[in-house]
Amino acid sequence: MKTLDDVHLSGERVFVRSELNVSISDQGVADYTRIEASRPTFDTLRERGCRVVVCSHMGRPWGRRDPSKSLRQLIEPLNDILDADVRFVEDCIGPARDEAVAALGEGEILLLENVRYHSEENSNDPAFGEALVHGMDLYVNDAFGTCHRSHASIVAAALAAPERCAGRLLQRELTQLELMHNPDYRPTLAVIGGAKISGKDGKLSIVENLVNTVDQVAVIGKLAYYFLIASGIEVGVTMSADTRGIDAPDASLADDVEACRGVLAQAQALGKPLLLPVDSVVNVDGRDVLVSFANEMVPAAGRALDIGPGTIESLKAAIEASNLVVWNGPAGYFEEPAYRAGTLAIARALGRFGGHAVIGGGDTVAAVASTIGEVHPSIHICTGGGAMLTWLMGAELPGVAALEAVPSIQRS
Ligand code: 3PG
Ligand code: MG
Repeated sequence: MKTLDDVHLSGERVFVRSELNVSISDQGVADYTRIEASRPTFDTLRERGCRVVVCSHMGRPWGRRDPSKSLRQLIEPLNDILDADVRFVEDCIGPARDEAVAALGEGEILLLENVRYHSEENSNDPAFGEALVHGMDLYVNDAFGTCHRSHASIVAAALAAPERCAGRLLQRELTQLELMHNPDYRPTLAVIGGAKISGKDGKLSIVENLVNTVDQVAVIGKLAYYFLIASGIEVGVTMSADTRGIDAPDASLADDVEACRGVLAQAQALGKPLLLPVDSVVNVDGRDVLVSFANEMVPAAGRALDIGPGTIESLKAAIEASNLVVWNGPAGYFEEPAYRAGTLAIARALGRFGGHAVIGGGDTVAAVASTIGEVHPSIHICTGGGAMLTWLMGAELPGVAALEAVPSIQRS
């Protein structure tokens, strides 16, 4: 895979697929992380006098022109962050866009309207991909957070361009994740939380893959209770149908637990047993109690909602004993302030930790992490949720594969 260091840059017309999918409220952009993280690619291209055409999605308008998802709203934030005078065009393909591209001077930036206003984006339409990069000399993918999607601006456009490479942000994200395979960073610890276990983007396959790739895996969040059931612990109504429905609509609890038994056995056989909660904060009839699994089970009417102090201590010790920690997913029901303690304790432990951490996933973890990340340069906050999970699963990212592909073979 080529990077910006491997291609000729001097005044070329460059199509950059950026990750500018940010949420916008009446107060403006909620979080600038993704825009700021996109800056290094723009800086490099502008320093070399390239004419930069920026493409991104925002939200999921899927083929409809929804004004609340217009990238027009990013002109000002981009001007501020890039110290530029960004131009804008109402459509990402077609005559108006071609004209605006032709008028671009050296070092200038043209922002294209939301690529998801076209349904062909979602279907990875080859003709749409060609129209996106029409007249371009180079395609740059800098949208790590969307690399798990086989969409036209991610795959078809890359294959249609005369040349393609990774931008600085994509390069950085992959370098950070690759540290997991770097022997200098051992021992490595993965901390995986959240709720959804089975299905296409469930986390069971991630735990399974990580057991084979890192030195230790800790499972937290609702995910952990599947493994606890598999180890013979009763979890009350933690997994009752009403709470499981959204996490696992297609699989039976018995199937999920059986799959967890397999992963537990596999981890045991590899000599690296999973680190599971040893205690939990459990809500029983409206009251919170602490349940320690050494000598208790969750009462029949109880729902486990956060990890307890014993678990926090064992996670702290595991973090301290590692050189690299990869963390994705909260430890408890973070939406409720009463059940944030576990997630916040992990964040604090990583803030004090002398090693390197790669953190991403849900907005929750990214938000918690950004507070400590600002003061700790050895903590990397990943800009991708689903893309990071796909990577942790050991699966191919279509956006990365498209950069590595030989286009003539791919397109024939
Ligand atoms: C994200 O925010 O997860 C990426 O921008 C991808 O967006 P999507 O989940 O709507 O494809
Ligand atoms: Mg997503």
